[in-house]
Amino acid sequence: MTDLRTVSLEVLRRAGVVRVYDVGQRLIVLDAQGRGHALEGDSARLARAVLAYLLVGHTRNELYEHLEVLSGAPLGATDVVDELLALLLGAGALERGAPASRVVPLHTPGHRVVLGITGAVAAMNAPVLVQALLERGLVVRVVATREALRFVRVEGLEALTHTAVVADMWPVDSALAVPHIGLAQWADAMLIWPASATTIGRIASGDFSSIVAAVAASTSAPVMLAPSMNPAMSGSAAVQRNLEQLIDDGFHVVHANTGIEVADRPDQRTPTTGGAPSPAIILQLFDAMLRDNPRPRPHDTEDWDNVYRRAPETLAWHHAAADDDLVAIAAAMAAGSRILEVGTGLGVLALACAGLGYRVVATDLSRRAVALARERDSTSAVVWVEDDITDSRLHGSFELMLDRGCAHLLGDDALDGFVRNAARLVAPGGQLVIKALATAAAPGLAVLDGARVRARFGAAFALASEAPSTMPGPSAAPAARLFVLKRHG
Ligand SMILES: Cc1cc2nc3c(=O)[nH]c(=O)nc-3n(C[C@H](O)[C@H](O)[C@H](O)COP(=O)(O)O)c2cc1C
Repeated sequence: MTDLRTVSLEVLRRAGVVRVYDVGQRLIVLDAQGRGHALEGDSARLARAVLAYLLVGHTRNELYEHLEVLSGAPLGATDVVDELLALLLGAGALERGAPASRVVPLHTPGHRVVLGITGAVAAMNAPVLVQALLERGLVVRVVATREALRFVRVEGLEALTHTAVVADMWPVDSALAVPHIGLAQWADAMLIWPASATTIGRIASGDFSSIVAAVAASTSAPVMLAPSMNPAMSGSAAVQRNLEQLIDDGFHVVHANTGIEVADRPDQRTPTTGGAPSPAIILQLFDAMLRDNPRPRPHDTEDWDNVYRRAPETLAWHHAAADDDLVAIAAAMAAGSRILEVGTGLGVLALACAGLGYRVVATDLSRRAVALARERDSTSAVVWVEDDITDSRLHGSFELMLDRGCAHLLGDDALDGFVRNAARLVAPGGQLVIKALATAAAPGLAVLDGARVRARFGAAFALASEAPSTMPGPSAAPAARLFVLKRHG
């Protein structure tokens, strides 16, 4: 008889939103209709173990094995576990494959976002939006009008962002001598949520008297506004005129959704139009705007740390397995060779090289990435270092240096720094292997092609080969080029 356990590859994971609670010995699971299913004793204990293990996706077989390890005995029949899984799946506490609630990863995370909050009643929900923006891997600075701060507290916003809320045209910290210009230049994008009628009027008429309007009108970054007001206000000729002006001027103006009107008595409120969309909806619209207006790349170490802050396995360049062609190159090295991998991310390639028996040093600009990679290295096979290869502090001599997806993110100046350090770190006669996307890695960047490689690397390296390749990620494997360079002897 076939052992079904060996053929089930279905991945299960805990849903992002679960309706489960414990009371005494019981565990209660609510389904989507709000019906409660009570589990007791061993069933409740089993459900707790399953929900804990499936926080990260696993196949059924992995789950069975995990439960065997936990109980210290063979599982035997899997009916009880399967029944429980059916219940949890039916109740929406578990999902199959990728969680439906997972948002599509931004292709260029690390965007710097100025969130403008103005004196509309929806401002009281601003902290929810701030947290949602942070969870998307965005770097957030908050600017707020004085009226906005009657609805939401500075302290809460600052606790979330760990930066000062700017609520004045005058400086609050020395790094921002003229806040509205500093932030206008810093921003990759701006979101004004909610946008009051007054602020809309200010921006439309070029009135720079509030910090929110001043940043919005001064920045060359894309700005999205979510008008939020009573329908009597939004329908007024003045507001309509101002909104048309903003659309003409290139602002992204969001359509209103239904909301409540606080001018109505609490017991008489009915949904009315005119409100800003909820944080969850505005986030989708803002994402769409960012996708249309991508920035070249995260700017600095802090941005890269932010990139690796959440769901790093979903990053466009991360792949669970090391690229075959890079592993094949490493595998051809003499025993005992020293390998340097730059831009290691979660360390997949470095670990594969260490698995082949080489001495491996792996670096990344992001401290967080280095920490995550180190966590995955259960046998401490790799030396993990936080380092910027364009301005490296590393010492040593390596027979092979691997770069999967760093050099293609560099402009000429930074690329020259990369070459300088690679020339210093790769032993005479050693190899430098670069995998770069075949198309520009980000808008405004030149493709790293053979001509550019020769021009920039030629003084220290000879281009031995250039071959088509791919850069596998979580959902796609875009075309790439593989350059093998040899350090002059
Ligand atoms: C309780 C209350 C709720 C308000 N809600 C809104 C609103 O939802 N939208 C709006 O445009 N103005 C609203 N206002 C009026 C604004 O606060 C006022 O126009 C203010 O000047 C906006 O200034 P600002 O754009 O500088 O924040 C509200 C005022 C109060 C007292």
